[in-house]
Amino acid sequence: MSQAFDVVVIGAGPGGYIAAIRAAQLGFKVACIDEWKNAAGGPAPGGTCTNVGCIPSKALLQSSEHFEHANHHFADHGISTGKVTMDVAKMVGRKDTVVKQNNDGILYLFKKNKVTFFHGRGSFVAAAEGGYQVKVAGAAEEVITGKQIVVATGSNARALPGVPFDEELILSNDGALRIGAVPKKLALIGSGVIGLEMGSVWRRLGADVTILEGLPTFLGAVDEQIAKEAKKAFDKQGLKIELGVKVGEIKTGKKGVNVAYTNAKGEAVSLDADKLIVSIGRVPNTIGLNSEAVGLQLDERGAIVVDADCKTNLPGVWAVGDVVRGPMLAHKAEEEGVAVAERIAGQHGHVNFNTIPWVIYTSPEIAWVGRTEQQLKADGVAYKAGTFPFLANGRARALGDTTGMVKFLADAKTDEILGVHIVGPMASELISEAVVAMEFKASAEDIARICHAHPSLSEATKEAALAVDKRTLNF
Ligand code: FAD
Ligand code: NAI
Repeated sequence: MSQAFDVVVIGAGPGGYIAAIRAAQLGFKVACIDEWKNAAGGPAPGGTCTNVGCIPSKALLQSSEHFEHANHHFADHGISTGKVTMDVAKMVGRKDTVVKQNNDGILYLFKKNKVTFFHGRGSFVAAAEGGYQVKVAGAAEEVITGKQIVVATGSNARALPGVPFDEELILSNDGALRIGAVPKKLALIGSGVIGLEMGSVWRRLGADVTILEGLPTFLGAVDEQIAKEAKKAFDKQGLKIELGVKVGEIKTGKKGVNVAYTNAKGEAVSLDADKLIVSIGRVPNTIGLNSEAVGLQLDERGAIVVDADCKTNLPGVWAVGDVVRGPMLAHKAEEEGVAVAERIAGQHGHVNFNTIPWVIYTSPEIAWVGRTEQQLKADGVAYKAGTFPFLANGRARALGDTTGMVKFLADAKTDEILGVHIVGPMASELISEAVVAMEFKASAEDIARICHAHPSLSEATKEAALAVDKRTLNF
Protein backbone atom coordinates (compact mmCIF):
# COMPACT_ATOMS: atom_id res chain seq x y z
CA MET A 1 0.00 0.00 0.00
CA SER A 2 1.64 3.28 -1.06
CA GLN A 3 1.75 6.16 1.41
CA ALA A 4 -0.89 8.78 0.63
CA PHE A 5 -0.46 12.50 1.31
CA ASP A 6 -2.61 15.57 0.89
CA VAL A 7 0.34 17.53 -0.52
CA VAL A 8 3.54 16.20 -2.11
CA VAL A 9 6.26 18.78 -2.70
CA ILE A 10 9.07 17.89 -5.13
CA GLY A 11 12.22 19.85 -4.23
CA ALA A 12 13.30 21.21 -0.86
CA GLY A 13 14.86 24.51 -1.91
CA PRO A 14 13.42 27.78 -0.53
CA GLY A 15 10.31 27.36 -2.67
CA GLY A 16 9.66 23.72 -1.78
CA TYR A 17 10.59 23.47 1.88
CA ILE A 18 8.68 26.63 2.75
CA ALA A 19 5.61 25.41 0.80
CA ALA A 20 5.81 22.10 2.70
CA ILE A 21 6.02 23.79 6.11
CA ARG A 22 3.20 26.23 5.36
CA ALA A 23 0.98 23.40 4.06
CA ALA A 24 1.68 21.40 7.23
CA GLN A 25 0.85 24.46 9.36
CA LEU A 26 -2.49 24.58 7.57
CA GLY A 27 -3.27 21.04 8.68
CA PHE A 28 -2.35 19.00 5.60
CA LYS A 29 -0.48 15.69 5.60
CA VAL A 30 2.64 16.69 3.68
CA ALA A 31 5.60 14.93 2.04
CA CYS A 32 8.65 16.72 0.66
CA ILE A 33 11.09 14.95 -1.68
CA ASP A 34 14.62 16.19 -2.36
CA GLU A 35 17.56 14.49 -4.00
CA TRP A 36 20.46 16.75 -2.94
CA LYS A 37 23.29 14.79 -1.27
CA ASN A 38 25.91 16.08 1.15
CA ALA A 39 29.53 14.91 0.93
CA ALA A 40 28.66 11.79 2.93
CA GLY A 41 25.73 10.95 0.64
CA GLY A 42 23.15 12.04 3.23
CA PRO A 43 20.28 14.47 2.68
CA ALA A 44 21.04 18.15 2.26
CA PRO A 45 17.71 19.98 1.96
CA GLY A 46 17.74 23.67 1.15
CA GLY A 47 18.35 23.47 -2.59
CA THR A 48 20.65 25.65 -4.61
CA CYS A 49 20.21 28.50 -2.15
CA THR A 50 21.50 26.60 0.88
CA ASN A 51 24.02 24.30 -0.79
CA VAL A 52 25.60 26.22 -3.67
CA GLY A 53 23.92 29.62 -3.74
CA CYS A 54 22.80 32.34 -1.35
CA ILE A 55 24.20 30.93 1.89
CA PRO A 56 27.68 29.67 0.91
CA SER A 57 28.30 32.70 -1.31
CA LYS A 58 27.48 35.07 1.56
CA ALA A 59 29.75 33.05 3.88
CA LEU A 60 32.68 33.50 1.47
CA LEU A 61 31.78 37.16 0.88
CA GLN A 62 31.91 37.72 4.64
CA SER A 63 35.27 35.95 5.08
CA SER A 64 36.84 37.78 2.16
CA GLU A 65 35.48 41.11 3.39
CA HIS A 66 37.04 40.54 6.82
CA PHE A 67 40.33 39.79 5.05
CA GLU A 68 40.12 42.95 2.98
CA HIS A 69 39.28 45.04 6.05
CA ALA A 70 42.17 43.58 8.01
CA ASN A 71 44.54 44.23 5.10
CA HIS A 72 43.41 47.64 3.97
CA HIS A 73 41.15 49.34 6.50
CA PHE A 74 42.22 48.35 10.03
CA ALA A 75 45.23 50.68 9.81
CA ASP A 76 42.84 53.66 9.39
CA HIS A 77 41.47 52.79 12.84
CA GLY A 78 44.94 52.62 14.37
CA ILE A 79 45.01 48.83 14.41
CA SER A 80 48.18 47.19 13.16
CA THR A 81 48.09 43.49 12.49
CA GLY A 82 51.31 42.70 10.65
CA LYS A 83 50.92 40.57 7.55
CA VAL A 84 47.45 39.12 7.33
CA THR A 85 47.16 35.72 5.67
CA MET A 86 44.19 33.71 4.51
CA ASP A 87 43.81 29.97 5.09
CA VAL A 88 41.52 29.21 2.15
CA ALA A 89 40.84 25.64 3.29
CA LYS A 90 39.65 26.95 6.65
CA MET A 91 37.48 29.61 4.99
CA VAL A 92 35.88 26.97 2.74
CA GLY A 93 35.48 24.63 5.75
CA ARG A 94 33.67 27.37 7.68
CA LYS A 95 31.40 27.91 4.69
CA ASP A 96 30.63 24.16 4.64
CA THR A 97 29.75 24.29 8.35
CA VAL A 98 27.38 27.19 7.76
CA VAL A 99 25.73 25.20 4.93
CA LYS A 100 25.37 22.12 7.16
CA GLN A 101 23.79 24.20 9.94
CA ASN A 102 21.17 25.30 7.43
CA ASN A 103 20.60 21.74 6.09
CA ASP A 104 20.15 20.48 9.64
CA GLY A 105 17.87 23.39 10.47
CA ILE A 106 15.52 22.42 7.62
CA LEU A 107 15.47 18.75 8.69
CA TYR A 108 14.59 19.95 12.21
CA LEU A 109 11.81 22.18 10.82
CA PHE A 110 10.38 19.22 8.86
CA LYS A 111 10.27 17.17 12.07
CA LYS A 112 8.77 20.02 14.07
CA ASN A 113 6.04 20.55 11.48
CA LYS A 114 5.48 16.83 10.84
CA VAL A 115 6.49 17.01 7.18
CA THR A 116 7.58 13.55 5.95
CA PHE A 117 10.91 13.95 4.16
CA PHE A 118 11.98 11.58 1.37
CA HIS A 119 15.61 11.62 0.20
CA GLY A 120 15.71 10.79 -3.50
CA ARG A 121 14.54 11.87 -6.90
CA GLY A 122 10.83 12.49 -7.33
CA SER A 123 9.17 11.88 -10.68
CA PHE A 124 5.62 11.67 -11.95
CA VAL A 125 4.28 8.16 -12.56
CA ALA A 126 0.67 8.79 -13.50
CA ALA A 127 -2.49 10.57 -12.52
CA ALA A 128 -4.24 8.62 -9.78
CA GLU A 129 -7.77 8.88 -8.47
CA GLY A 130 -8.03 12.25 -6.78
CA GLY A 131 -4.36 13.08 -7.35
CA TYR A 132 -1.05 11.80 -8.70
CA GLN A 133 1.42 9.00 -8.15
CA VAL A 134 4.99 10.12 -7.60
CA LYS A 135 7.98 7.78 -7.59
CA VAL A 136 10.76 8.43 -5.09
CA ALA A 137 14.08 6.95 -6.21
CA GLY A 138 16.52 7.07 -3.34
CA ALA A 139 18.30 4.33 -1.42
CA ALA A 140 15.11 2.36 -2.13
CA GLU A 141 12.32 3.02 -4.59
CA GLU A 142 8.72 3.64 -3.63
CA VAL A 143 5.63 5.25 -5.04
CA ILE A 144 3.63 7.71 -2.98
CA THR A 145 0.45 9.57 -3.86
CA GLY A 146 -0.51 13.20 -3.39
CA LYS A 147 -3.86 14.91 -3.87
CA GLN A 148 -1.97 18.10 -4.64
CA ILE A 149 1.56 18.32 -6.06
CA VAL A 150 3.89 21.31 -5.74
CA VAL A 151 6.87 21.23 -8.12
CA ALA A 152 9.81 23.27 -6.82
CA THR A 153 12.75 21.72 -8.64
CA GLY A 154 14.71 24.96 -9.09
CA SER A 155 17.39 25.70 -11.66
CA ASN A 156 20.91 24.83 -12.81
CA ALA A 157 23.77 26.93 -14.13
CA ARG A 158 23.66 27.58 -17.87
CA ALA A 159 26.80 26.36 -19.68
CA LEU A 160 28.25 28.02 -22.77
CA PRO A 161 27.36 25.94 -25.84
CA GLY A 162 30.00 23.23 -26.29
CA VAL A 163 31.81 24.17 -23.07
CA PRO A 164 30.60 21.85 -20.30
CA PHE A 165 31.47 22.51 -16.67
CA ASP A 166 34.29 20.28 -15.42
CA GLU A 167 34.27 22.04 -12.00
CA GLU A 168 38.10 21.97 -12.04
CA LEU A 169 38.97 24.61 -14.62
CA ILE A 170 35.57 25.61 -15.97
CA LEU A 171 33.37 26.28 -12.99
CA SER A 172 29.69 26.79 -12.39
CA ASN A 173 28.53 28.38 -9.14
CA ASP A 174 29.14 24.98 -7.53
CA GLY A 175 32.87 24.81 -8.36
CA ALA A 176 33.25 28.57 -7.80
CA LEU A 177 32.34 28.02 -4.15
CA ARG A 178 34.89 25.20 -3.73
CA ILE A 179 38.09 26.74 -5.14
CA GLY A 180 40.83 25.41 -2.88
CA ALA A 181 43.50 28.09 -3.28
CA VAL A 182 43.48 31.71 -4.43
CA PRO A 183 43.96 31.61 -8.22
CA LYS A 184 46.56 34.03 -9.55
CA LYS A 185 44.34 34.85 -12.47
CA LEU A 186 40.61 34.29 -12.50
CA ALA A 187 38.36 34.85 -15.50
CA LEU A 188 34.59 35.06 -15.36
CA ILE A 189 32.07 35.21 -18.17
CA GLY A 190 28.96 37.23 -17.31
CA SER A 191 29.00 40.31 -15.10
CA GLY A 192 25.60 39.60 -13.57
CA VAL A 193 24.92 38.86 -9.94
CA ILE A 194 27.10 35.75 -9.60
CA GLY A 195 29.95 37.23 -11.66
CA LEU A 196 30.13 40.30 -9.43
CA GLU A 197 29.74 38.45 -6.12
CA MET A 198 32.19 35.64 -6.91
CA GLY A 199 34.58 38.01 -8.68
CA SER A 200 34.58 40.15 -5.52
CA VAL A 201 35.39 37.21 -3.24
CA TRP A 202 38.49 36.15 -5.16
CA ARG A 203 39.63 39.70 -5.96
CA ARG A 204 39.59 40.53 -2.24
CA LEU A 205 41.72 37.46 -1.58
CA GLY A 206 44.32 38.60 -4.10
CA ALA A 207 43.32 37.12 -7.47
CA ASP A 208 43.70 39.16 -10.64
CA VAL A 209 40.06 39.07 -11.78
CA THR A 210 38.70 39.78 -15.27
CA ILE A 211 34.97 39.62 -15.97
CA LEU A 212 33.87 39.41 -19.60
CA GLU A 213 30.36 40.68 -20.29
CA GLY A 214 28.54 40.33 -23.57
CA LEU A 215 26.26 43.33 -23.22
CA PRO A 216 27.56 46.86 -23.82
CA THR A 217 25.92 48.20 -20.66
CA PHE A 218 26.88 47.33 -17.10
CA LEU A 219 24.04 45.86 -15.00
CA GLY A 220 21.31 46.83 -17.44
CA ALA A 221 18.50 45.93 -15.01
CA VAL A 222 19.83 48.33 -12.37
CA ASP A 223 19.03 52.06 -12.27
CA GLU A 224 21.64 53.67 -14.58
CA GLN A 225 22.88 56.20 -12.02
CA ILE A 226 23.31 53.46 -9.41
CA ALA A 227 25.02 51.09 -11.86
CA LYS A 228 27.43 53.87 -12.87
CA GLU A 229 28.33 54.56 -9.24
CA ALA A 230 28.84 50.85 -8.57
CA LYS A 231 31.04 50.44 -11.64
CA LYS A 232 33.20 53.35 -10.47
CA ALA A 233 33.70 51.59 -7.12
CA PHE A 234 34.51 48.23 -8.74
CA ASP A 235 37.00 49.88 -11.13
CA LYS A 236 38.73 51.50 -8.15
CA GLN A 237 38.99 48.11 -6.43
CA GLY A 238 40.73 46.66 -9.47
CA LEU A 239 37.90 44.38 -10.57
CA LYS A 240 38.39 44.39 -14.34
CA ILE A 241 35.05 44.35 -16.15
CA GLU A 242 35.10 44.30 -19.96
CA LEU A 243 31.77 45.12 -21.55
CA GLY A 244 30.54 44.36 -25.06
CA VAL A 245 32.79 41.33 -25.63
CA LYS A 246 32.09 38.35 -27.84
CA VAL A 247 33.46 35.17 -26.33
CA GLY A 248 35.05 32.77 -28.82
CA GLU A 249 36.97 29.56 -28.29
CA ILE A 250 37.73 28.33 -24.79
CA LYS A 251 40.64 25.92 -24.35
CA THR A 252 41.82 24.09 -21.27
CA GLY A 253 45.26 22.65 -20.66
CA LYS A 254 47.84 21.90 -18.00
CA LYS A 255 48.38 25.59 -17.35
CA GLY A 256 44.73 26.48 -16.98
CA VAL A 257 42.19 28.05 -19.29
CA ASN A 258 42.48 30.25 -22.34
CA VAL A 259 39.56 32.41 -23.43
CA ALA A 260 39.66 33.95 -26.89
CA TYR A 261 37.33 36.90 -27.30
CA THR A 262 36.69 40.00 -29.33
CA ASN A 263 36.57 43.18 -27.28
CA ALA A 264 34.21 46.12 -27.75
CA LYS A 265 36.66 47.74 -30.20
CA GLY A 266 36.56 44.61 -32.36
CA GLU A 267 40.09 43.54 -31.39
CA ALA A 268 40.94 39.86 -30.89
CA VAL A 269 42.13 39.19 -27.32
CA SER A 270 43.51 36.05 -25.72
CA LEU A 271 43.07 35.77 -21.96
CA ASP A 272 44.90 33.17 -19.85
CA ALA A 273 43.56 32.28 -16.43
CA ASP A 274 44.00 29.59 -13.81
CA LYS A 275 40.25 29.09 -13.60
CA LEU A 276 37.15 30.26 -15.44
CA ILE A 277 33.75 30.82 -13.82
CA VAL A 278 30.86 30.83 -16.26
CA SER A 279 27.98 32.84 -14.80
CA ILE A 280 25.67 33.58 -17.72
CA GLY A 281 22.32 32.82 -16.11
CA ARG A 282 20.44 29.72 -15.04
CA VAL A 283 18.06 27.25 -16.64
CA PRO A 284 14.95 25.72 -15.04
CA ASN A 285 15.40 22.19 -13.80
CA THR A 286 12.71 19.86 -15.14
CA ILE A 287 14.85 17.00 -16.43
CA GLY A 288 14.08 13.85 -14.48
CA LEU A 289 10.57 14.89 -13.45
CA ASN A 290 8.98 12.67 -16.10
CA SER A 291 6.55 15.49 -16.80
CA GLU A 292 5.47 13.73 -20.04
CA ALA A 293 3.83 10.95 -18.01
CA VAL A 294 1.14 13.34 -16.84
CA GLY A 295 1.27 15.94 -19.62
CA LEU A 296 2.72 18.78 -17.54
CA GLN A 297 3.24 21.73 -19.86
CA LEU A 298 6.75 23.18 -20.21
CA ASP A 299 7.81 26.18 -22.27
CA GLU A 300 10.65 26.26 -24.80
CA ARG A 301 13.20 26.94 -22.01
CA GLY A 302 12.04 23.91 -20.04
CA ALA A 303 10.29 26.08 -17.44
CA ILE A 304 6.94 24.90 -16.13
CA VAL A 305 4.13 27.04 -17.52
CA VAL A 306 2.07 28.58 -14.70
CA ASP A 307 -0.54 31.31 -14.36
CA ALA A 308 -0.31 34.23 -11.94
CA ASP A 309 -1.37 31.88 -9.10
CA CYS A 310 1.35 29.27 -9.88
CA LYS A 311 -1.25 26.85 -11.25
CA THR A 312 0.03 24.58 -14.03
CA ASN A 313 -2.07 23.15 -16.88
CA LEU A 314 -2.92 20.14 -14.65
CA PRO A 315 -5.55 20.30 -11.93
CA GLY A 316 -3.93 20.01 -8.50
CA VAL A 317 -0.38 20.54 -9.80
CA TRP A 318 1.38 23.79 -8.87
CA ALA A 319 4.92 25.03 -9.51
CA VAL A 320 6.98 27.69 -7.71
CA GLY A 321 10.43 29.29 -7.64
CA ASP A 322 13.20 29.13 -10.23
CA VAL A 323 11.41 26.46 -12.25
CA VAL A 324 8.73 28.99 -13.29
CA ARG A 325 8.71 32.52 -14.76
CA GLY A 326 9.88 35.54 -12.83
CA PRO A 327 13.07 36.50 -11.01
CA MET A 328 15.26 33.63 -9.83
CA LEU A 329 15.44 34.71 -6.20
CA ALA A 330 15.09 32.70 -3.00
CA HIS A 331 12.64 35.12 -1.39
CA LYS A 332 10.44 35.10 -4.52
CA ALA A 333 10.41 31.28 -4.38
CA GLU A 334 9.47 31.38 -0.68
CA GLU A 335 6.63 33.84 -1.20
CA GLU A 336 5.24 31.67 -4.00
CA GLY A 337 5.56 28.57 -1.78
CA VAL A 338 3.54 30.18 1.01
CA ALA A 339 0.93 31.53 -1.40
CA VAL A 340 0.43 28.12 -3.07
CA ALA A 341 0.01 26.31 0.28
CA GLU A 342 -2.58 28.92 1.26
CA ARG A 343 -4.39 28.62 -2.09
CA ILE A 344 -4.53 24.82 -1.65
CA ALA A 345 -6.22 25.54 1.70
CA GLY A 346 -8.77 27.75 -0.07
CA GLN A 347 -7.17 30.97 1.19
CA HIS A 348 -6.04 33.94 -0.89
CA GLY A 349 -2.27 33.60 -1.03
CA HIS A 350 -0.67 36.71 -2.46
CA VAL A 351 2.67 37.64 -4.07
CA ASN A 352 3.32 41.24 -5.10
CA PHE A 353 5.82 41.05 -7.96
CA ASN A 354 6.20 44.84 -7.94
CA THR A 355 7.80 44.88 -4.51
CA ILE A 356 10.30 42.04 -4.71
CA PRO A 357 13.66 43.45 -3.62
CA TRP A 358 16.94 42.66 -5.38
CA VAL A 359 20.30 42.72 -3.65
CA ILE A 360 23.81 42.24 -5.01
CA TYR A 361 26.10 41.50 -2.08
CA THR A 362 29.23 43.18 -3.36
CA SER A 363 31.01 45.99 -1.62
CA PRO A 364 29.38 48.46 -2.00
CA GLU A 365 26.14 46.50 -1.88
CA ILE A 366 23.52 47.26 -4.53
CA ALA A 367 19.83 46.95 -3.67
CA TRP A 368 16.63 48.08 -5.26
CA VAL A 369 12.88 47.70 -5.35
CA GLY A 370 10.39 48.98 -7.89
CA ARG A 371 11.07 50.70 -11.16
CA THR A 372 14.32 52.31 -12.36
CA GLU A 373 14.55 55.83 -13.80
CA GLN A 374 15.07 54.39 -17.30
CA GLN A 375 11.96 52.21 -16.91
CA LEU A 376 9.85 55.17 -15.79
CA LYS A 377 11.05 57.16 -18.81
CA ALA A 378 10.26 54.26 -21.13
CA ASP A 379 6.80 53.89 -19.53
CA GLY A 380 6.16 57.64 -19.94
CA VAL A 381 5.56 58.14 -16.21
CA ALA A 382 6.08 61.66 -14.82
CA TYR A 383 8.34 61.28 -11.77
CA LYS A 384 10.49 63.22 -9.32
CA ALA A 385 13.90 61.93 -8.21
CA GLY A 386 15.81 62.57 -5.00
CA THR A 387 19.27 61.31 -4.07
CA PHE A 388 21.38 61.50 -0.93
CA PRO A 389 25.07 60.48 -0.81
CA PHE A 390 26.46 58.38 2.06
CA LEU A 391 29.35 60.88 2.07
CA ALA A 392 27.00 63.24 3.95
CA ASN A 393 25.83 60.59 6.45
CA GLY A 394 27.49 60.65 9.88
CA ARG A 395 27.21 56.92 10.52
CA ALA A 396 28.75 56.10 7.13
CA ARG A 397 31.69 58.39 7.97
CA ALA A 398 32.12 56.69 11.34
CA LEU A 399 32.04 53.31 9.61
CA GLY A 400 34.63 54.52 7.12
CA ASP A 401 32.39 53.54 4.22
CA THR A 402 30.94 56.52 2.40
CA THR A 403 30.63 55.10 -1.11
CA GLY A 404 27.31 55.45 -2.87
CA MET A 405 23.87 56.90 -2.36
CA VAL A 406 20.18 56.32 -1.79
CA LYS A 407 17.87 57.31 -4.62
CA PHE A 408 14.10 57.77 -4.46
CA LEU A 409 11.77 57.91 -7.44
CA ALA A 410 8.26 59.16 -6.74
CA ASP A 411 5.21 59.93 -8.85
CA ALA A 412 5.32 63.59 -9.92
CA LYS A 413 1.67 64.13 -9.05
CA THR A 414 0.80 61.83 -6.16
CA ASP A 415 4.31 61.51 -4.64
CA GLU A 416 3.79 57.71 -4.34
CA ILE A 417 7.14 55.91 -4.18
CA LEU A 418 7.77 54.12 -7.49
CA GLY A 419 11.30 52.86 -6.89
CA VAL A 420 14.14 53.02 -4.40
CA HIS A 421 17.72 52.30 -5.43
CA ILE A 422 20.71 52.04 -3.14
CA VAL A 423 24.41 51.54 -3.69
CA GLY A 424 26.41 51.63 -0.50
CA PRO A 425 26.97 50.10 2.93
CA MET A 426 24.26 47.73 4.21
CA ALA A 427 22.04 48.41 1.21
CA SER A 428 20.69 44.85 1.71
CA GLU A 429 19.21 45.85 5.06
CA LEU A 430 18.23 49.42 4.15
CA ILE A 431 16.08 48.29 1.23
CA SER A 432 13.54 46.64 3.59
CA GLU A 433 12.19 50.02 4.66
CA ALA A 434 11.54 50.89 1.03
CA VAL A 435 9.80 47.54 0.43
CA VAL A 436 7.50 48.12 3.40
CA ALA A 437 6.82 51.68 2.28
CA MET A 438 5.93 50.57 -1.24
CA GLU A 439 3.70 47.73 0.04
CA PHE A 440 1.76 50.35 2.01
CA LYS A 441 1.74 52.67 -1.00
CA ALA A 442 3.60 55.33 0.97
CA SER A 443 4.61 58.65 -0.52
CA ALA A 444 8.16 60.00 -0.38
CA GLU A 445 6.79 62.61 2.04
CA ASP A 446 5.69 59.80 4.42
CA ILE A 447 9.27 58.56 4.71
CA ALA A 448 10.60 62.12 4.92
CA ARG A 449 8.38 62.75 7.98
CA ILE A 450 9.22 59.53 9.86
CA CYS A 451 11.77 59.79 12.68
CA HIS A 452 14.92 57.75 11.84
CA ALA A 453 17.52 56.89 14.51
CA HIS A 454 20.66 58.99 14.62
CA PRO A 455 23.33 58.20 13.70
CA SER A 456 22.22 55.52 11.30
CA LEU A 457 22.60 54.71 7.63
CA SER A 458 18.80 54.77 7.42
CA GLU A 459 18.96 58.56 7.77
CA ALA A 460 20.25 58.54 4.19
CA THR A 461 16.92 56.95 3.21
CA LYS A 462 14.99 59.69 4.96
CA GLU A 463 17.19 62.36 3.39
CA ALA A 464 16.76 60.88 -0.10
CA ALA A 465 12.99 61.04 0.48
CA LEU A 466 13.41 64.69 1.52
CA ALA A 467 15.50 65.24 -1.63
CA VAL A 468 12.47 64.36 -3.76
CA ASP A 469 11.00 67.66 -2.49
CA LYS A 470 14.41 69.38 -2.71
CA ARG A 471 14.71 69.93 1.04
CA THR A 472 17.55 67.73 2.31
CA LEU A 473 18.74 68.87 5.73
CA ASN A 474 22.28 67.52 5.70
CA PHE A 475 23.41 68.06 2.13
P1 FAD B 1 16.34 25.37 -5.66
O1 FAD B 1 16.91 26.13 -4.53
O2 FAD B 1 17.19 25.19 -6.87
O3 FAD B 1 15.90 23.97 -5.09
C1 FAD B 1 15.41 22.95 -5.88
C2 FAD B 1 15.65 21.63 -5.17
O4 FAD B 1 14.95 20.61 -5.85
C3 FAD B 1 17.11 21.18 -5.15
O5 FAD B 1 17.46 20.74 -3.86
C4 FAD B 1 17.15 20.02 -6.13
O6 FAD B 1 18.12 19.04 -5.79
C5 FAD B 1 15.76 19.46 -5.96
N1 FAD B 1 15.27 18.69 -7.10
C6 FAD B 1 15.25 19.03 -8.41
N2 FAD B 1 14.65 18.07 -9.14
C7 FAD B 1 14.27 17.12 -8.26
C8 FAD B 1 13.58 15.90 -8.41
N3 FAD B 1 13.13 15.47 -9.58
N4 FAD B 1 13.39 15.16 -7.28
C9 FAD B 1 13.82 15.56 -6.07
N5 FAD B 1 14.46 16.72 -5.90
C10 FAD B 1 14.68 17.49 -6.98
N6 FAD B 1 18.84 34.31 -4.37
C11 FAD B 1 18.59 35.25 -3.45
O7 FAD B 1 17.43 35.62 -3.25
N7 FAD B 1 19.60 35.81 -2.71
C12 FAD B 1 20.89 35.46 -2.90
O8 FAD B 1 21.78 35.98 -2.22
C13 FAD B 1 21.18 34.47 -3.86
N8 FAD B 1 22.45 34.09 -4.07
C14 FAD B 1 22.71 33.13 -5.00
C15 FAD B 1 24.03 32.77 -5.23
C16 FAD B 1 24.33 31.82 -6.18
C17 FAD B 1 25.76 31.44 -6.43
C18 FAD B 1 23.27 31.18 -6.91
C19 FAD B 1 23.57 30.11 -7.92
C20 FAD B 1 21.96 31.53 -6.69
C21 FAD B 1 21.67 32.52 -5.74
N9 FAD B 1 20.36 32.93 -5.50
C22 FAD B 1 20.11 33.90 -4.59
C23 FAD B 1 19.22 32.33 -6.23
C24 FAD B 1 18.54 31.27 -5.35
O9 FAD B 1 19.49 30.30 -4.98
C25 FAD B 1 17.39 30.63 -6.09
O10 FAD B 1 16.52 31.62 -6.57
C26 FAD B 1 16.60 29.71 -5.17
O11 FAD B 1 17.43 28.70 -4.66
C27 FAD B 1 15.42 29.09 -5.90
O12 FAD B 1 14.73 28.26 -5.02
P2 FAD B 1 13.89 27.01 -5.55
O13 FAD B 1 13.29 26.39 -4.35
O14 FAD B 1 13.03 27.43 -6.66
O15 FAD B 1 14.97 26.01 -6.19
P1 NAI C 1 22.62 36.95 -14.46
O1 NAI C 1 21.44 36.84 -15.33
O2 NAI C 1 22.55 37.76 -13.24
O3 NAI C 1 23.85 37.52 -15.31
C1 NAI C 1 24.31 36.87 -16.46
C2 NAI C 1 25.17 37.85 -17.24
O4 NAI C 1 25.86 37.12 -18.24
C3 NAI C 1 24.36 38.92 -17.94
O5 NAI C 1 24.93 40.17 -17.68
C4 NAI C 1 24.46 38.53 -19.40
O6 NAI C 1 24.41 39.63 -20.27
C5 NAI C 1 25.80 37.85 -19.44
N1 NAI C 1 25.96 36.88 -20.53
C6 NAI C 1 25.06 35.95 -20.95
N2 NAI C 1 25.59 35.23 -21.95
C7 NAI C 1 26.84 35.69 -22.16
C8 NAI C 1 27.88 35.33 -23.06
N3 NAI C 1 27.76 34.33 -23.93
N4 NAI C 1 29.04 36.04 -23.01
C9 NAI C 1 29.19 37.05 -22.13
N5 NAI C 1 28.24 37.43 -21.25
C10 NAI C 1 27.08 36.75 -21.27
O7 NAI C 1 23.05 35.44 -14.15
P2 NAI C 1 24.02 34.81 -13.05
O8 NAI C 1 24.99 35.81 -12.56
O9 NAI C 1 24.49 33.55 -13.65
O10 NAI C 1 23.05 34.49 -11.87
C11 NAI C 1 21.89 33.70 -12.10
C12 NAI C 1 20.77 34.13 -11.24
O11 NAI C 1 20.97 33.68 -9.91
C13 NAI C 1 20.61 35.64 -11.10
O12 NAI C 1 19.93 36.20 -12.18
C14 NAI C 1 19.81 35.73 -9.85
O13 NAI C 1 18.47 35.49 -10.16
C15 NAI C 1 20.36 34.59 -9.02
N6 NAI C 1 21.36 35.11 -8.08
C16 NAI C 1 20.96 36.00 -7.14
C17 NAI C 1 21.85 36.54 -6.25
C18 NAI C 1 21.38 37.56 -5.28
O14 NAI C 1 20.17 37.72 -5.14
N7 NAI C 1 22.27 38.26 -4.59
C19 NAI C 1 23.25 36.13 -6.23
C20 NAI C 1 23.58 35.22 -7.30
C21 NAI C 1 22.66 34.72 -8.15
